[in-house]
Amino acid sequence: MEVRIREGGKSDYPTVYECMTNTAWNDLPEAERGTTKKEAWMAFFRKIARTLTEGRGRKIFVACDDRNDFMGYVVTGSMGEGSSTIPVGMVFDISVLEPFRRRGIAKLLIKTAEDYCKTQGMWRIKLEVAANNPNAIDLYTKVGFEAERTLMGKNLS
Ligand SMILES: CC(C)(COP(=O)(O)OP(=O)(O)OC[C@H]1O[C@@H](n2cnc3c(N)ncnc32)[C@H](O)[C@@H]1OP(=O)(O)O)[C@@H](O)C(=O)NCCC(=O)NCCS
Repeated sequence: MEVRIREGGKSDYPTVYECMTNTAWNDLPEAERGTTKKEAWMAFFRKIARTLTEGRGRKIFVACDDRNDFMGYVVTGSMGEGSSTIPVGMVFDISVLEPFRRRGIAKLLIKTAEDYCKTQGMWRIKLEVAANNPNAIDLYTKVGFEAERTLMGKNLS
């Protein structure tokens, strides 16, 4: 099946919010997941997903098939203020719908984000990934990302 990449638009937002919210729920550390009800948390995060998707300078690329059916997306753009004086790009989120996984679509989306960031004058690209998401860590390692720092957490009790 042919995979085409197009720019994402408003009609893609609901699917993006839903995928992003599901990933965020799955990525939550076990200790935090136990403190909240899934549906309430998902409703809370959908608002954050909206900001993450529609924030200033964000760019969405969508992978679709020859009938224009949605297969996956990447949200990219400038990291904004960070540790570097030179513009750094970010992969804010990526997701491929389950029936289309393991066909190289995520790799293609990452490459698209990288090419886009290069056209915006960025010299490096970063992302955050949950420690409990080995598939995503495999993907990012395979396309050349290396760990830079680790976010650590503990319960206060
Ligand atoms: C992670 C994700 C985006 C990968 O999408 P995909 O289109 O299936 O990935 P690709 O086919 O391009 O795979 C590229 C590489 O990623 C790794 N990978 C992807 N899925 C994997 C899995 N289920 N198990 C192990 N490795 C996996 C492999 O190294 C793979 O290379 P290979 O197929 O040559 O072995 C997809 O599983 C997904 O949408 N997950 C839910 C959302 C998510 O976790 N997003 C990441 C947020 S940080």
